[in-house]
Amino acid sequence: MSELPDSRPEAAEIQRTGILFSGIQPSGNIHIGNYCGAIRNWVRLLDDYHCIFSIVDYHAITAPYDPSIMQARIRQATLANIAAGLDPERCLIFVQSQVPEHTELTWIFNTLTPMGLLGRMTQFKEKSRRSEENINVGLYDYPVLQAADVLLYRAEAVPVGEDQVQHIEFTRDLARKFNLRFEPYFPEPQALVPSSGARILGLDGKSKMSKSLDNYIGLLEEPEAIWEKLRPAVTDEKRIRRSDPGEPGDCNIYTIHQCFSPPEVQEWVVDGCRSAGIGCIDCKRKLHEHMMNVLDPIRERAKELERKPEVVDEALARGARECRVRAAATMEDVRRITGLR
Ligand code: AMP
Ligand code: TRP
Repeated sequence: MSELPDSRPEAAEIQRTGILFSGIQPSGNIHIGNYCGAIRNWVRLLDDYHCIFSIVDYHAITAPYDPSIMQARIRQATLANIAAGLDPERCLIFVQSQVPEHTELTWIFNTLTPMGLLGRMTQFKEKSRRSEENINVGLYDYPVLQAADVLLYRAEAVPVGEDQVQHIEFTRDLARKFNLRFEPYFPEPQALVPSSGARILGLDGKSKMSKSLDNYIGLLEEPEAIWEKLRPAVTDEKRIRRSDPGEPGDCNIYTIHQCFSPPEVQEWVVDGCRSAGIGCIDCKRKLHEHMMNVLDPIRERAKELERKPEVVDEALARGARECRVRAAATMEDVRRITGLR
């Protein structure tokens, strides 16, 4: 895993030839955790790699869902990502299920994957604890499909939030295993994790901010609605009274500041919190102000895109078209290498 600096690397260090892949599930509203942990970096890396982003519907259906709103969610996720800066002229965006090779490669990888390993994956354990009645094989096989996503395009870089690092390590191991069992073919991809914002907690301050829990701030929510959520959000629990000092390192609000506020404001928070010079509400007001500096233009672009549905349609059509060609080429090779042709 390599840490991604918060500013862009110097031009000399930029590697433009590699392929970058990442995915996001269309399982609910895109939230600021997605933005801080993933999308913000995707946008920064657009010029450094050949970037491919997938709306991973096959992953999303491993959890209970309503088929009648799936297409709307796919469109909404695409629109939010484009509004957040994934310019479809500078990258490919496609829907996973429109490229059937993802599941074909998954099958081949299944035969290289020990069952015990999947049973020990943190996300599988957490999700199966949460949804006891629906521990399906897809949920179990989820990391293998994810590895197929990345390796189908022979991607080298995979920018993700912290919760996905284990899956990318698994992907590396699988690539190595394939290369040893057959012949060197797949690169071992690197997870790129941001130095701040890789794990944003929910407004409850306990579990990870998540689309499936009612603990998130949506990327496209209106300023007033965001304030209504931010105002009562949990902070460092040591700050019971205004005069109690706190520790920013123990406060989710500070973690969010690190994503949205300039360095001098972050310093103001650290000093003010530790000395009880500022209260949590002062700190949240400042955060809201800086969040809006980032989110206002994203929300405006999203509204514009809603009036131009052809932008999303064309982006997804081109993404599917080009990804199908790349995926077909990899599968040709893989079938030959594995003796299936
Ligand atoms: P998902 O919504 O699970 O498809 O996640 C899409 C991307 O957002 C992945 O790279 C995740 O690691 C990242 N992500 C999701 N939730 C969070 C969070 N609470 N904090 C930071 N990154 C997150
Ligand atoms: N599993 C990822 C998540 O829940 C989404 C994902 C699917 C992904 N395929 C991927 C991320 C490939 C990176 C690379 O966040």
